[in-house]
Amino acid sequence: MVKHIAILGSTGSIGKNALRVIDALNSSLVARGTRYEIVALSAHSSVKQLAEQARRYKPKFVAITNADYVEPLRSAVGDLDAEILAGPDSLIEIVQLESVDIVLTAIVGAAGLGAVLAAAKKGKQLAIANKEPLVIAGELLTKTVKENGGTILPVDSEHSAIFQAMRAGSRQEISKIILTSSGGPLRKMSVEDIQNVTLEEALAHPVWDMGPKITVDSATMMNKALEVIEAHWLFDMPVEMIEVLIHPESIVHSLVEFVDGSVIAQLGMPDMCLPIQYALTYPERVAGIAEHLRLDEMGKLTFEKPNLETFRAMGLGFEVARTGGTAAAVFNAANEAAVEEFLAGKIKFVSIVELIERCLNKHNVKTNPALEELLEADAWARREVHKNISLPNGSQVRKC
Ligand SMILES: NC(=O)c1ccc[n+]([C@@H]2O[C@H](COP(=O)([O-])OP(=O)(O)OC[C@H]3O[C@@H](n4cnc5c(N)ncnc54)[C@H](OP(=O)(O)O)[C@@H]3O)[C@@H](O)[C@H]2O)c1
Repeated sequence: MVKHIAILGSTGSIGKNALRVIDALNSSLVARGTRYEIVALSAHSSVKQLAEQARRYKPKFVAITNADYVEPLRSAVGDLDAEILAGPDSLIEIVQLESVDIVLTAIVGAAGLGAVLAAAKKGKQLAIANKEPLVIAGELLTKTVKENGGTILPVDSEHSAIFQAMRAGSRQEISKIILTSSGGPLRKMSVEDIQNVTLEEALAHPVWDMGPKITVDSATMMNKALEVIEAHWLFDMPVEMIEVLIHPESIVHSLVEFVDGSVIAQLGMPDMCLPIQYALTYPERVAGIAEHLRLDEMGKLTFEKPNLETFRAMGLGFEVARTGGTAAAVFNAANEAAVEEFLAGKIKFVSIVELIERCLNKHNVKTNPALEELLEADAWARREVHKNISLPNGSQVRKC
């Protein structure tokens, strides 16, 4: 059997790991005779990398979402037998192709929303790493998937762990799900300590090697807040049944507690290849490239409660998940805009959460929003953040 895959965001951390996983599955043919064929690849502006990937994997479609880079891409791969697409809508075109069975979304941020929704409307199998669309439009997206006979398979390691552990019982038998978090690079810091965190410190994740946006999200614990909302929609789980535990060793990827008190966890080395592979081979398990766990070499596995005082984003995440409506779109967009400013060296680390909070306080939440209202809320929050940081003496928001 051949499974035809489109990888959106193939030049990023998840995208590159996905290609490694596919190489391994194809080369060993351990996947019970299943071959994985890459139909389409996309990047935003990394022309050189995308061109190298196109040469190697020979997809029928190569997309560059930042259209300014289409000419360099054409020069780099014009001799290949591949159609070159440009602009954000090229992703929508790709996911609608009849020849695509699996859409692996490895784009960062809200930019992936249109393509994910289009894939859901076509009833595709979605392997989702790109959590932001689920955060912004979880209700709409999960409904669209159901109505069109598609599936969503989580790639985020915590959600993959929950997805796997949930198979130990029925939905009614679950009493709660527990998302684990490494705690990020600033785990031990107090409220005072985080006041002067540098970009370098925020990007120095102790366990995971990820793209810059999610690495900063891990430092603020915003990543876990987004994951709470992601889990809420993905597993149709009331917020009251979701808990977060800090687990610095990142070996237990998450847990499910059942009504009889049994707790089922998924363990593995901290390596994204494992959840990526499971999303591709599900419901089967096959041998792959992920290193196997040697528990005897692990030493202690520890767990602690999150520090909600230092990492206020966590508490906000639960609040936003409870509020629903347009709140999560604002929460996510304000974060994306603030992280962009932080990465550009324009604001302090602590200003990220302050800016998000400011937006949430000012926003009039709309319930049962249509897609246009979610997009409006998203655009409004981005404008608010950029406006706030350009204010003279913007109270909490200062230059680094
Ligand atoms: N990295 C991980 O271990 C990990 C784990 C769990 C979940 N996730 C989630 O997976 C997603 C990707 O994370 P990542 O760490 O792989 O990110 P990343 O390394 O920054 O890669 C992002 C990818 O998206 C593309 N891209 C960037 N901006 C875009 C835009 N506006 N429109 C379309 N494509 C765009 C990039 O292209 P260029 O290279 O051309 O910029 C790149 O291919 C995120 O949602 C993250 O939260 C990541």
